[in-house]
Amino acid sequence: MKFVVAIDGPAAAGKGTIAKAVAKHFNLPHLDTGLLYRGIGKKALAYSRTSYYPEVAKQLALDLKPSDLNPNELRTPEIAEAASKVAKITEVREVLLDFQRSFANQDGGAVLDGRDIGTVICPDADIKLFITASAEVRSYRRYKELKNNGHDVELESVLQDVVSRDKRDAERETSPLVIAKDAIKIDTSSLTIKDAVEVAISYLNEKYETAKLLK
Ligand code: DC
Repeated sequence: MKFVVAIDGPAAAGKGTIAKAVAKHFNLPHLDTGLLYRGIGKKALAYSRTSYYPEVAKQLALDLKPSDLNPNELRTPEIAEAASKVAKITEVREVLLDFQRSFANQDGGAVLDGRDIGTVICPDADIKLFITASAEVRSYRRYKELKNNGHDVELESVLQDVVSRDKRDAERETSPLVIAKDAIKIDTSSLTIKDAVEVAISYLNEKYETAKLLK
């Protein structure tokens, strides 16, 4: 049987942590699609002032290699901002589309997390989760994560970055961050990581049993 899980939501809502835990629980491969945009964002920062021209950004996307996707090198505020800028470019999204769809369509299925998984990449996913939390809670989580990783940041500037990135991701023309009509919304503002994972898995267990019966 195939079980495809689509997880979307704004920055630092907990979707990455939930996606990893869900993938482990159901023994499925996981793709953090944000890393693809971050990988291109990092190249854009290093390339030139023309990096955000569609044809230039498209070439940066075409040149993306697995070795460009090291999560530890990509989790900085500057790269997050650049990722959100390249993610606005339709040509960049088109380059990444087939890879993401093939990942989702592999035997057995997969877990993908991002902004447009349930709406564009896997509209027929077996289950769609939309993970959210207040901007303040998300910024505080991101602030702690960055501090723990040795980044010298202020909470206020993390909040500003999160709010402006949300706005750009939600207002862009191509594949904006919107909740899919058939997605289950989970607000993690007042949940611990453990509780949020439990809530997600309880929704998934139900769908998994149905998927098993149908396939
Ligand atoms: O999930 P993240 O913070 O690593 O994502 C970084 C940026 O990449 C995010 O601001 C928007 C973009 N992104 C996207 O547009 N579509 C996706 N499926 C995943 C990420």
